[in-house]
Amino acid sequence: MSSMTAARVVFLGPPGVGKGTQASRAAKRLGVPAVATGDILREARQKGTPLGKEAQAYMDRGALVPDEVVVRIVEERLRQPDCAKGFLLDGFPRTLPQSHALDRTVTKLNVALDRALFFDAPEAALVQRLSGRRTCPKCQAPYHAETNKPKREGVCDRCGTALVTRDDDQPGTVKRRLAVYRTETAPVVEFYKKAGILKTIPSEGTIEEIEARVAAALA
Ligand code: AP5
Repeated sequence: MSSMTAARVVFLGPPGVGKGTQASRAAKRLGVPAVATGDILREARQKGTPLGKEAQAYMDRGALVPDEVVVRIVEERLRQPDCAKGFLLDGFPRTLPQSHALDRTVTKLNVALDRALFFDAPEAALVQRLSGRRTCPKCQAPYHAETNKPKREGVCDRCGTALVTRDDDQPGTVKRRLAVYRTETAPVVEFYKKAGILKTIPSEGTIEEIEARVAAALA
C-alpha cells in the first residue's frame, strides 16, 4: 500500500524550481506515472516526429508550445490504462486555458484532481539551479553540477547516457522562460487556490528536505 493518498496531482512552479526532480520521487512513492509535458515534447523532438518539429522552435526560444498541442498530448496520455489509478502532472497546466481543458478532461474521465502543489523559490535560486543543470537526453533525469551530481561524472545513473545541457538553459532563454512563467503560469496558481486544492511547498533547502515536504502535502 502506498503511504500517500492523493493520487491525482498537479505540480506547478517556475522553471528550475525542482518539479521534475520531485515528480519522479513522488510518483514512485504514489505508485502512479509522472506525466511531464516537457519530457514528452523533448522525446518527440529527439525522434524527429511532426510534433517534435512543431514544438522545437517554441521551446528553443523559451516560449510555450500552443495550448491545443499540449492539451491533446495530455488528454491522450491520461486515457492510457496506467493512469487509471492516478497520475502526477509535471509542467501542465501552465496557462489558464490548459487548466480549464484539464478540468474538462478529468470530468470526462469521471475523476477529480486531489491536489495542486505549488513549488515556490526566489528567482536567484532558480537561475542558480538552471545554470548548473545537466540533463539525460535519453531518460530526461535531471542532475546538477554542484547540488545533484551523478555517481559517475557526466553520465546518467539510470541509463548510462552522456549528460547534456538543455538548449533552453542558456541564460537569455532562461530569462524569457521566467518572464513567460510570470505572465502565463502564475495565474494558474490562483486558479487552484480558488478551487481549494492548492498547497505551497517552500522549495529552498536540500532535495531530501523538499521531498519530505511533498510527502507531507500529499499524505
Ligand atoms: P519543462 O521541461 O516543463 O521545463 P520547466 O517548467 O521550465 O521546468 P524545468 O524542467 O526547467 O525545471 P524543474 O522545475 O523541473 O526543475 P528540475 O527538477 O529539473 O518545459 C520546457 C519547455 O517545454 C517550455 O519552455 C515549453 O516550451 C514546453 N512546454 C512544456 N510543457 C508545456 C505546457 N504545458 N504548455 C506549453 N508548453 C510547454 O531542477 C532544476 C535543477 O535544480 C536541476 O539541476 C536539479 O538537479 C537541481 N535541483 C533540484 N532541486 C534542488 C534543490 N532542492 N537544491 C539544489 N538543486 C536542486
